[in-house]
Amino acid sequence: MSSHFQGNSLVILWLCHMLLAQALGRTYTAAVYEHQVVLNPEPGRPLRRHEALEHMWKNLDVFEEQAAIAAKQGAQIIVFPEDGIHGFNYTRESIAAYLETVPDPAAVRWSPCSQPEEIPHTEVLRRLSCMAKKNAIYVVANMPDRQDCDKKNDTHCPPDGRYQFNTDVVFDTNGTIVARYHKQNLYFEAAFDTPPECEHVTFDTPFAGRFGVLTCFDILFYKPAVFLVEKLGVRQLVYPTAWMNQLPLLAAVQFQRAFSYAAGATLLAANVRAAELGMTGSGIFTPWHEVYQHNMENEAGRLLVSEVPVLDQEEMSSRGWPLEPFAGQQLPQPQFCQKEAWDCKGTPFTMRPAPHNSTFTAIMMYDNFTMVALEGSEGDLTVCDRALCCNLLFQRSHAPDELYALGVFSGLHVVHGTYHLEVCALVRCAGSTLLSCGGEIDYASTRIDFHLKGNFSTQHVFPSLLGSGMQLERPDQYGQEGGRVFMSRTGMLNGLVTASLYSRVYDKDDEF
Ligand SMILES: *[C@@H]1O[C@H](CO)[C@@H](O)[C@H](O)[C@H]1NC(C)=O
Ligand SMILES: *[C@@H]1O[C@H](CO)[C@@H](O)[C@H](O)[C@H]1NC(C)=O
Ligand SMILES: *[C@@H]1O[C@H](CO)[C@@H](O)[C@H](O)[C@H]1NC(C)=O
Ligand SMILES: *[C@@H]1O[C@H](CO)[C@@H](O)[C@H](O)[C@H]1NC(C)=O
Ligand SMILES: *[C@@H]1O[C@H](CO)[C@@H](O)[C@H](O)[C@H]1NC(C)=O
Ligand SMILES: *[C@@H]1O[C@H](CO)[C@@H](O)[C@H](O)[C@H]1NC(C)=O
Repeated sequence: MSSHFQGNSLVILWLCHMLLAQALGRTYTAAVYEHQVVLNPEPGRPLRRHEALEHMWKNLDVFEEQAAIAAKQGAQIIVFPEDGIHGFNYTRESIAAYLETVPDPAAVRWSPCSQPEEIPHTEVLRRLSCMAKKNAIYVVANMPDRQDCDKKNDTHCPPDGRYQFNTDVVFDTNGTIVARYHKQNLYFEAAFDTPPECEHVTFDTPFAGRFGVLTCFDILFYKPAVFLVEKLGVRQLVYPTAWMNQLPLLAAVQFQRAFSYAAGATLLAANVRAAELGMTGSGIFTPWHEVYQHNMENEAGRLLVSEVPVLDQEEMSSRGWPLEPFAGQQLPQPQFCQKEAWDCKGTPFTMRPAPHNSTFTAIMMYDNFTMVALEGSEGDLTVCDRALCCNLLFQRSHAPDELYALGVFSGLHVVHGTYHLEVCALVRCAGSTLLSCGGEIDYASTRIDFHLKGNFSTQHVFPSLLGSGMQLERPDQYGQEGGRVFMSRTGMLNGLVTASLYSRVYDKDDEF
């Protein structure tokens, strides 16, 4: 592998940045805080209100400190993680003392800091509101919301007469509640109800225009995540999460990066920090650059602050940057594609199944992938599962002790959630046997130049590229051509751990 690849891609990145700054003009400063949540050690035991408040105060003390630090660094908005104030693993009953009623900002204009008496038992809202006002910063926080209901006029109303929602609340610089979003796609959260109808929540800011709101698991579903981007034209998203990392395909920062890139949107992602639960990975992602952290080493919170371009759709279109979601970005072809044998763009997608002896199946993240191992220093491999065929052209540095495989899966994922997937993935196997392919590993020394493509049945394909030591890398190219989605990369800075085209077939979900 010649080292001039590295130089080239750095120059291209730098160029992109310069062009971008010119093209984009307006910027703002965003902050996300990865918080080590002080947990309730006995989440199943109901508490009194004052005990719940004492607990939440410990987390809010940290939020207050971090909001002040972020504001001093010029941040205009700060995002805190899902469950960051109250923790998790509650039952419907045991979370009762933590609940506050968050009014609908469309119906009531209210700053809890300025008018604390207006709604009783809203101490948490008040602290968050004052935090926003005092530091003149937009605050995005997650808390449990109670909405009373009546079975007489609401058929969805739970038997105990109230909804309990996993809720994001947004405060403006006056401490006024400007958005309230009830999480749609719960991840086995016994304490909470799914809203009867999905809420598509946005709020407008004077510094950057419109933002949309989503929470954690939502990022894998059409509503509200992709609906906000595709149907409402939102290009900036705030994203509180409590995400357990899962390699090789769904580490937190890996998928955050992929979503922002594919959707052509900025994602302000704040995760919980809890190493024993595998939770870490937060960042500020624009379609072109990222500031992020993934840290399993020490237990500490981490504030990230970054200046980012304003991605207001109208402004972007008027500058000739429409940022079509899921359309890909056309950049120069990787060098090896110009080799006579490998005209990556021009050749039709011819089927050349790998020799039968080299295809095997292996479980990757609970799904039964069909795989083929990489052999030699370069090759052209194809592997299919049902109607999805994945093709890989590769050229790699020699590291015979590191086994790699190209895997394909097309079908219904059924563990920890039920949803349709189509995936093409080049992975470093966790060990030296074929059985180990699809297992978790986060380091590699093999450099691979590649062009990966698949004939997906959907355009909702999320490209991700993970380098050794959880380093995010970016495809040189990602886009659609002739009914298939591809990405390519040469000159990676780190050994390759995973290169994947992960797609969700949203319209099939309704069948289940
Ligand atoms: C929460 O539940 C999960 C799964 O049931 C468990 O692994 C975890 O240890 C629990 N965490 C806490 C803080 O109780
Ligand atoms: C349902 O009835 C209650 C009173 O019983 C009332 O307060 C509430 O506003 C009603 N809700 C709707 C959606 O009509
Ligand atoms: C804050 O309140 C002032 C005075 O009422 C108002 O002029 C300003 O627009 C408000 N700011 C925001 C961000 O709502
Ligand atoms: C597959 O078969 C070819 C030719 O018969 C042989 O050279 C190669 O070693 C085999 N590969 C594996 C993984 O068994
Ligand atoms: C995976 O699929 C193959 C072929 O369809 C099958 O033979 C194998 O038993 C499956 N493996 C598991 C663990 O289900
Ligand atoms: C993908 O290509 C294979 C092989 O040509 C074909 O059988 C399959 O129908 C194609 N799938 C789609 C979704 O077009």
